[in-house]
Amino acid sequence: MVWLLQDKLLELLADETSYPYVFMYGSNGNGGLWKSRNVPAKYSDNFLETLPIAADNPVAYATVEKYVGNVVQYVQEKKVGLFFFSKPCPENRFGTGTGKTTAAVTILNHYLLERLRQHLKGEQAIKDNPVYFCKSTDLQTAFNAQFRGTPEMQRVASERYYAIKNRAKAVELLVFDDIATKASTESFTEELYEIIDHRASEELATIYTSNMTMEAVADLLGDRIASRIEGMTVPVAFSGADHRKKVL
Ligand SMILES: Nc1ncnc2c1ncn2[C@@H]1O[C@H](COP(=O)(O)OP(=O)(O)O)[C@@H](O)[C@H]1O
Ligand SMILES: [Mg+2]
Repeated sequence: MVWLLQDKLLELLADETSYPYVFMYGSNGNGGLWKSRNVPAKYSDNFLETLPIAADNPVAYATVEKYVGNVVQYVQEKKVGLFFFSKPCPENRFGTGTGKTTAAVTILNHYLLERLRQHLKGEQAIKDNPVYFCKSTDLQTAFNAQFRGTPEMQRVASERYYAIKNRAKAVELLVFDDIATKASTESFTEELYEIIDHRASEELATIYTSNMTMEAVADLLGDRIASRIEGMTVPVAFSGADHRKKVL
């Protein structure tokens, strides 16, 4: 089937009337699998071709390149997770803006594209979205919302929280962004543990990003969580200047 060649898929994804387009982007172009990945707009269109980290972080770049080159196998067979972290340094005290989230979304996008290809070939049908982007602070906000407002607001918030949590637990590839950024309560740490432990036990590929080393993650969230993450991921350090900073 010639139309399943790589270029043909990208061509079809540019055609608003095609089945792959509607499945990927929805009939209005703002839905479908692409929307429900939950990736923030700022990071939405990252692919290997545009990943800007090669010069500053050649080792991290090579890792992403290798993973993307065989992304289905890494996720489904080798079940390799990644821990993208920054080492704070004098030129970048908080370890932000080094491309960790960008690199994680790059892998997520390539995996979704390959899964769509599988789906279209009839190899492995997509039932639920195979990928999800979960920012740790958003999860915490959703968790806390369950305990605020009227009973009706709490009920709605609770439903929403469990929907997020269940997707984070179930998806084939999860990006868990910015873990351990702020003090976690005991009850929220327990929630984090449940998700992370589930993914570790089920051997579901997970890409964690953090502005902290694993030691600092252990200090903030406890050894239980840190050891689960460590056991399921390859650590990849990102260093250099903060590229988020605006310069005049
Ligand atoms: N080495 C780099 N060179 C150029 N731009 C970069 C580099 N690293 C990151 N960026 C850009 O900086 C911005 C912030 O990157 P982000 O992935 O959010 O960093 P982090 O998750 O490490 O805080 C993005 O727009 C990204 O494209
Ligand atoms: Mg980030």
